[in-house]
Amino acid sequence: MKILVTGGFGYIGAHFINRLKEHEILVVENFCQGRNNVIEGIQYKEVDIRNKEKLLEVFREFRPDIVVHYAALANVPDSVANPAKYYDTNIIGSLNVLECMREVGCKKIIFSSTAAVYGQSDELINEDHPKNPTSPYGHSKLMFEQILKDYHRAYGISSVSFRYFCASGCDEGGKIGCYHDPETQAIPNLVKTLLGKQEIFNVWGGDFPTPDGTGVRDYIHVNDLADAHILAIKKLEENGCFDYNLGINKGFSVMELIKEAERVTGKKLNYKMSPRRAGDPATIIASSMKAQKELRWTPKYTDIGEIILTDYNFFKTQ
Ligand SMILES: NC(=O)c1ccc[n+]([C@@H]2O[C@H](COP(=O)([O-])OP(=O)(O)OC[C@H]3O[C@@H](n4cnc5c(N)ncnc54)[C@H](O)[C@@H]3O)[C@@H](O)[C@H]2O)c1
Repeated sequence: MKILVTGGFGYIGAHFINRLKEHEILVVENFCQGRNNVIEGIQYKEVDIRNKEKLLEVFREFRPDIVVHYAALANVPDSVANPAKYYDTNIIGSLNVLECMREVGCKKIIFSSTAAVYGQSDELINEDHPKNPTSPYGHSKLMFEQILKDYHRAYGISSVSFRYFCASGCDEGGKIGCYHDPETQAIPNLVKTLLGKQEIFNVWGGDFPTPDGTGVRDYIHVNDLADAHILAIKKLEENGCFDYNLGINKGFSVMELIKEAERVTGKKLNYKMSPRRAGDPATIIASSMKAQKELRWTPKYTDIGEIILTDYNFFKTQ
């Protein structure tokens, strides 16, 4: 099968490709975040998805059977300050991807959506939960999910939208990891501080309505995300427009992450409390039962200490 992967050398895309060697893969990247030396032997084109003309040339030449669409801007606080950038890439760029698919008759797409489409909730969030994004980033992803529904009805393009909760961890081989710059996620910043690669770890917000006042998130390992995408390729043998949450159905506060990271590494973390960041909700925890039932997907990494160690082992080598 010919699979075109946008943003395939970013954090989550690279882990997917690493587990998917038997297919013919073409990565489309502008390298604003991704690195082109993470996985050897993968063909790629340096193209920005906002450049429709160049993108179409790539689609015409490669003629994919399926698109896995990771390329996006994904920094929540930055999206609050600079919404135009986010709508440009996440909506206009993504529409270009769909239009190129129409042009070459490609009828299947797997889309990286996000838990940020839901906003704050104290309950486990299933797919029917009200959508209430708290940032332009979340809005951009929700809008594109709607566009996918419209493209299915009008043009017969089938899709799986995955709403990832907090992507975390790195491949256990220690060779592929997280390359975000700047990094906004808790675990990579935490382990970089433990390793002495940055001076202090910021706990963004100690006054959330949570048991210890810090934000609570559901951390899902990137290799589990990758496995869900592989199962989605099979799911798309059916015609339809599907959405699934991907998380471990359990939340951890930032203070709990710190405790666990100190326990598994035997090191003491230098941290400070800082004000909340714009767009960050207090608590988001998944119910992923739909993906578990319909895709037969089971997350293998459910021990937060083990997840943190995979990050720690990767950043040790950087
Ligand atoms: N990391 C998370 O916790 C998380 C959670 C929910 C959803 N997501 C979504 O998952 C996807 C991948 O996230 P990630 O963490 O791997 O991010 P990432 O930044 O590491 O990967 C995105 C990749 O897309 C590329 N890219 C960005 N804009 C592009 C453009 N205009 N043209 C071509 N390539 C472009 C970047 O160079 C990068 O390699 C994104 O769509 C993101 O919104 C991520």
